[in-house]
Amino acid sequence: MKHLIDLDDFSLEELNGIIEQAVEIEKNPMAFHGRMTGRILGTLFYEPSTRTQMSFQTAMLRLGGQIVGFDDPQTASVSKGENLKDTVKVVSNYADIIAIRHPLEGSAKAAAQCADCPIINAGDGGHLHPTQTLTDLVTLMCEKGRLDNLTIGLCGDLKFGRTVHSLIKTMLRYPNNRFILISTPELTIPDYLKKAIEQANGSYTEISSLEEALPLLDVLYMTRIQRERFESLQEYRRQKDVYKLDCNKLTHAREDLKILHPLPRVDEIDTDVDDDPRALYFVQANHGVFARMSLILHMLGTDDPSPVMAGQILDRDCANSRCITHQEQYLKHYYLDTPSGPACEYCDCHE
Ligand code: CP
Repeated sequence: MKHLIDLDDFSLEELNGIIEQAVEIEKNPMAFHGRMTGRILGTLFYEPSTRTQMSFQTAMLRLGGQIVGFDDPQTASVSKGENLKDTVKVVSNYADIIAIRHPLEGSAKAAAQCADCPIINAGDGGHLHPTQTLTDLVTLMCEKGRLDNLTIGLCGDLKFGRTVHSLIKTMLRYPNNRFILISTPELTIPDYLKKAIEQANGSYTEISSLEEALPLLDVLYMTRIQRERFESLQEYRRQKDVYKLDCNKLTHAREDLKILHPLPRVDEIDTDVDDDPRALYFVQANHGVFARMSLILHMLGTDDPSPVMAGQILDRDCANSRCITHQEQYLKHYYLDTPSGPACEYCDCHE
């Protein structure tokens, strides 16, 4: 089985093939209708979603397949205390492929260990969101024409922003991309990602001023400050209004800037910006359907399996309180060897 937990699960050749196919589908979606007739997508959404869930469902329906699933764990047997393993084990015999979103980090990897069908990570807590990144890559390919030689500004919640983490990891695989990381000191990217950039000989600058960064950028990736990730409401309130993109600030940006946002937006982009031709976030959400159509076709059309766990089992608890291993007690504690010591294979915690 081929799972998608992290886009690193795909070779660069595979990834580029999925992007190219998405662009082809977008030109003529009806040509692909019927390719998934008789196949079923399961959507297990333990956390709210509009775009990811509905674009996955739309993608499967447009391919001629069908869908089952839940979007509120309170309406499923999860509310009766069923663990992740049992839910995934059962649904993976009803469906041919499952997209799962869960508030805990490493949950998709945990699901893949017990599933009898391919698992797609549709967002695991503040960790990764690979299908959003696939959407972002299709958007950049269609709207910018390339995935390399880009100066990419990422602004907002870089600490808990799973879309940011996946995007940085993936854009590092294309040559000469540079990252300008715009955040408060409290919401900078995790250390493991800084190390990943350094190990890939990538370049990043951390700054706190959006105004200073704007003139330098080919791409601005705005993100929401996510109330649901903060342990303290007071800290959320201190962070939530720091960055706001408006038309006035955009006068300092390049004419060919591309403004992306995974959405949902709260206040971090003024609605007046929506009319600026550089604002692509609604176009981006639309590309997501074709990206996911291409992904489903690839995953159900390949015999190339992906190993689920590669690390060794250690008798120690993960230091990340948001790691799935703390909720699902039956999980074995896998760790990968890294230059800075063992890292939890579920959530990438290096502590
Ligand atoms: N971009 C994204 O993940 O949006 P949803 O939370 O609405 O799925």
